[in-house]
Amino acid sequence: MKILVISGPNLNLLGIRNTDIYGHQSYADLQNYIQKHAESLQLQTAFYQSNMEGDIVNAIQNARGVYDGIILNAAAYTHTSIAILDALEAVKIPCVEVHLSNIHAREEFRRQSYPARACIAQIAGCGFRSYRYALMELAEMLYA
Ligand code: DQA
Repeated sequence: MKILVISGPNLNLLGIRNTDIYGHQSYADLQNYIQKHAESLQLQTAFYQSNMEGDIVNAIQNARGVYDGIILNAAAYTHTSIAILDALEAVKIPCVEVHLSNIHAREEFRRQSYPARACIAQIAGCGFRSYRYALMELAEMLYA
């Protein structure tokens, strides 16, 4: 089974940005972490990161017929993007929304998630482990 891991704006700056919240590990470290855990669950992964909302919409559209599942951290677009929600609803690929931080324990504006309406689950606040738990959920679902 093939999983596309989509990362939104500023996640390419992991390890540099707000290290008190997001930690000291880089985006490359995150990719390696996901890859390692995906392999142990018999999942193949591909990665896509963009700072542009429309590019993320395109990546979701292009995933149709190619990927069996999506792990999405839309970053700040989580809280604003109806276009990303619409794309997820259109392609109907099972998607787990993830966040490194607990968006429900931060500023009020981070509590709202548009993509969550089209996702099978939301995992937030577990750092890199949020992605591991998302992989586990997709593996359970896809291999059921
Ligand atoms: C984030 C949370 C968002 O509110 C924020 O804009 C991010 C990262 C997270 O992974 O915790 O960029 O999605």
